[in-house]
Amino acid sequence: MVFSRAIKIAPSILSADFADFGREIQAVEAEGADWVHVDVMDGHFVPNLTFGPPAVAAFRKHVKTVMDVHLMIAPVDPYIEAFAEAGADIITAHVEAGPHIHRTLQAIRATGKKAGVALNPGTPAEAVAHVLDLTDLICVMTVNPGFGGQKFIDMTAKIRTLRAMIGDRPVHIEIDGGVTTETAPLVARAGADVLVAGSAVFKGGSVANPAPYGANIRAIRQAADLAANARLA
Ligand code: DX5
Ligand code: ZN
Repeated sequence: MVFSRAIKIAPSILSADFADFGREIQAVEAEGADWVHVDVMDGHFVPNLTFGPPAVAAFRKHVKTVMDVHLMIAPVDPYIEAFAEAGADIITAHVEAGPHIHRTLQAIRATGKKAGVALNPGTPAEAVAHVLDLTDLICVMTVNPGFGGQKFIDMTAKIRTLRAMIGDRPVHIEIDGGVTTETAPLVARAGADVLVAGSAVFKGGSVANPAPYGANIRAIRQAADLAANARLA
């Protein structure tokens, strides 16, 4: 994985057909996904339940790009090794999930995986100020985590603050929640480079009819690219 600030689209398989994950992953990758985003929920840190390490290991067999595993679980430290063994490329933990985010990021890096840190909408950018050198990705939640298809919460001021804090460090800014062709330009202009999108990628398509996945991915990417290029111009 070579670091780049180019816009990357990461479909969240939370919006895929749960009876057909293998073919759904193959379909979004064939249609242009850069990364595949896997939402792990524990019914405790967030009010919903999804997958554990065995399911993630099964997804791995189908992911040819980058498997981006978003852990919405507390505690998180006891499960890091299991998700690393399941084949995650990036493991992201929430700063709100425990008192020791510094230790958590060290533990993720110790497995050889990229370490991400996620911030809920109510958590300020400053919460990661002292872990920037332990971090490969900052995930800015633009919904309260737990469900796909929620309304975007504007976090552009936080994204700008984080982009300035990061400086020249090779740290991605990922946006998760409510990303659409309307909201992608706002976050790209503010400095985000990874856009997670569940409902906006999977809407209108299926494994039998995957072309809408490609059209949706291209539309989000185009909207974001225009805004990112305007920011850099
Ligand atoms: C929310 C998850 C998201 C979710 C995004 O808790 O972390 O990744 O799947 O879904 P959309 O794009 O539909 O808001
Ligand atoms: Zn997510």
